[in-house]
Amino acid sequence: MRMVDVIEKKRNGLALSTEEIQFFIDGYTDGSIPDYQVSALTMAIFFQGMTEKERADLTMAMVKSGDQIDLSAIEGVKVDKHSTGGVGDTTTLVLGPLVAALGVPVAKMSGRGLGHTGGTIDKLEAVQGFHVEIDNEEFIHLVNQNKIAIIGQSGNLTPADKKLYSLRDVTATVDSIPLIASSIMSKKIAAGADAIVLDVKTGAGAFMKTLDDSRELAKAMVNIGNNVGRRTMAVISDMSQPLGFAIGNALEVKEAIDTMKGEGPKDLTELCLTLGSHMVYLAGKAESLEDARSKLEEVIRNGTALETFKVFLASQGGDASVVDQPEKLPQAKYQFELEAKAAGYVSEIVADEVGTAAMLLGAGRATKESVIDLAVGLVLKKKIGDKVEKGESLLTIYSNSEEVNQVKEKLYESIKITSGYVAPPILVHEEITE
Ligand code: URA
Ligand code: CA
Repeated sequence: MRMVDVIEKKRNGLALSTEEIQFFIDGYTDGSIPDYQVSALTMAIFFQGMTEKERADLTMAMVKSGDQIDLSAIEGVKVDKHSTGGVGDTTTLVLGPLVAALGVPVAKMSGRGLGHTGGTIDKLEAVQGFHVEIDNEEFIHLVNQNKIAIIGQSGNLTPADKKLYSLRDVTATVDSIPLIASSIMSKKIAAGADAIVLDVKTGAGAFMKTLDDSRELAKAMVNIGNNVGRRTMAVISDMSQPLGFAIGNALEVKEAIDTMKGEGPKDLTELCLTLGSHMVYLAGKAESLEDARSKLEEVIRNGTALETFKVFLASQGGDASVVDQPEKLPQAKYQFELEAKAAGYVSEIVADEVGTAAMLLGAGRATKESVIDLAVGLVLKKKIGDKVEKGESLLTIYSNSEEVNQVKEKLYESIKITSGYVAPPILVHEEITE
C-alpha cells in the first residue's frame, strides 16, 4: 500500500477501507509515514468528511496504537462520563460519588492538562494528602471496594491520537467533526469504558459554539461508540455562562460538597442529575431514567453520596474532614467584590472570558510548566437572568495578590447588564441516544 494512493482516494471523496485506515495510523505511529503526507490526508478528510464506518475504523485503529486499560477485574458495567470541556464544570467531582453510592463502578483515569482551572486531579489535590499515585492493582481493589477511585494517566494510551492531534493543531485541521469525534472516543475506549455518557457543551465557553455544531459532534460520537460496541449517549448542555457558581480548584471542591449535600447551585445540581441518571441507567442500576433520578436524589438526601465521597478521599490519603469543615481547604488571602456598575438584569457572562480571568488569578495552567494556585478563583453571585442593583456584588474574587485591576477589567468586559428582563439560558438542550 502507498500513502499517496490513500491521500488521493480521500481527496477524490471516496471512503477509505479498514485496511487503508489501519495502514496510515500504524505508519504514522511508527514514523514510517511522514507528517507532510498525514497533513495532506487530514486536510482531505477536513474537506471530504468520513463515513460512519470510516470514523469507527479510525477510532479503533487509534485505540490499538497503544495500551488499552483492562478493567475486567472490576465488577459491573464501567460507565465513563466525558465532558467536551467548559468553565467551572464541577460535574465530575459531584457525579463520581453520586453514582458510586448507587453501586456504579467509577474507575476514573484523569490527566492534568491546560485550562482555566486545573483538571479533576488538580481540584482533588486541594484536599490535604489526597494523591493519585496508586498502582493498577490498588486502583482496581479500591474501585471494587468503594466503587470509586481515580488514577493519574499512565502508560501509553492512544499515541496515534497524540501525534495526530498535535499535527492537526498546526495544520488548521482541528475543527473537523470526524477527527474530533474519533479523537475523543479513542481515548475513552482505550481507558476501558464499557459505556459512555458524553456531556457536549454548547455556547460561548464551549469548544462548539453553536447548537448545530454541538449536535453534529454529539451524534458523531454516539454513533462511533455504538458502532464499536460501547453503549454511548450524549447530553448537549449550556456553556454560554459558567456552570454553577465556583470557578477555581478548592472553590469547586467546596461547591461539589455543597451539591452532594443538596445545597448546590441549581444548574450544577440539575446537570448532575441528568448525566447521573443516564450513567446509572446504562450501568443497569435502575429500571428507567426516572427511577435512576429518584435514586440519585435519595443518596443526596440520605447522605450516602457525601459518605461515599469521604471514603473515596480517605482511601487515597486525603483528609476527609474537609467535607464537614471546608474551611480546611486552601484559602486565598484576599477577597474582592465585583460591584455592578448599573442596575438591571444580567444578560451575559461570557464563559471563556470569565475562565481566562480565573486563570489570570492563577487557577489554571497557561503552559505545562505553570504551577496552579489551588486557593484562588471566582464565585459568581449572579447568573444570567438575575436582577441586580447598582453597587451590588456580581461575584467574589479570591486572590493571593492584592492587585486585581486587570482581572476586574476583564470581568467587567465579559459580564453584561441590560435594563430589560432576560430569561436564563436553557441548561439541557438535547439528549441523543442513537
Ligand atoms: N479534544 C480532543 O480530545 N480531540 C480533538 O480532536 C478535539 C478536542
Ligand atoms: Ca462550578
